[in-house]
Amino acid sequence: MTDEKVLAASNFDHNPPVAHNQYDDSIRLFTAAYEPLFDMAHASLRSIAGETAGILIVGAGTGMEICTFGQKSSGWHFTGVDPSAEMLAISGKKIAEKGLSERVELVNGYCDDLPESCLYDGATCILVMHFLPDDGSKLRLLQSISRHLKRGAPLILVDDTGEPKSEEFWRTVDAWRTYVKTKGADPKLVDEGFSGQILKRLHFVPEGRIYELLDQAGFEKPSRFFTAFLYCGWVAVKN
Ligand SMILES: C[S@@+](CC[C@H](N)C(=O)[O-])C[C@H]1O[C@@H](n2cnc3c(N)ncnc32)[C@H](O)[C@@H]1O
Repeated sequence: MTDEKVLAASNFDHNPPVAHNQYDDSIRLFTAAYEPLFDMAHASLRSIAGETAGILIVGAGTGMEICTFGQKSSGWHFTGVDPSAEMLAISGKKIAEKGLSERVELVNGYCDDLPESCLYDGATCILVMHFLPDDGSKLRLLQSISRHLKRGAPLILVDDTGEPKSEEFWRTVDAWRTYVKTKGADPKLVDEGFSGQILKRLHFVPEGRIYELLDQAGFEKPSRFFTAFLYCGWVAVKN
């Protein structure tokens, strides 16, 4: 896949999966346990990074990580990076409303745009890597995060995972689709969301491959802390 195609899949400014002002509602509809996920990610990060830490948020989006973590850990400060100016604008507003701006720096760009000298005590990459194909792009993202972490620092990675050639994958997709429909969503919109966005746009790899990529990027001791249909969350440590 060319770099342009990679950019098209993950570009939230020119090719958003949903309109930016609908992202917060849409992600809560389609991602089971979206809010508990962030509470659990925070706890997993804090158990290793501690009460005072500099945290790198890769794919800061509309600010869910920074707003949730910032309110729970008053000793943390954050650098949030995201190539989408539109998503970051929403994030910036929410961060200000919650009175967290003094502890937050937002960077419109990629992790590689940060100075090499910036080393963090922990990082998150939540619902980002599955937009990238496994042609070196996923690995490059993890490597760029790894370069910006101190030894022993945790990474929280959350992605859709699975083997699309397996029966279990499609059984899980079916259950997930039923879950969203039975929450009261318009069945036609749900089917369009699955066929037009989730199944076309995301690059699924099995959990074993995620562990290999983490290892190749310099992370060890991965453990899974979250599962919701195909969404999984892991914590691993920079070696
Ligand atoms: C589905 S949103 C997730 C936002 C937030 N992490 C959340 O969980 O709600 C994905 C975000 O990743 C950003 N993104 C895409 N490719 C990226 C990359 N290579 N590095 C950092 N962020 C990226 C997009 O612009 C978008 O804001």
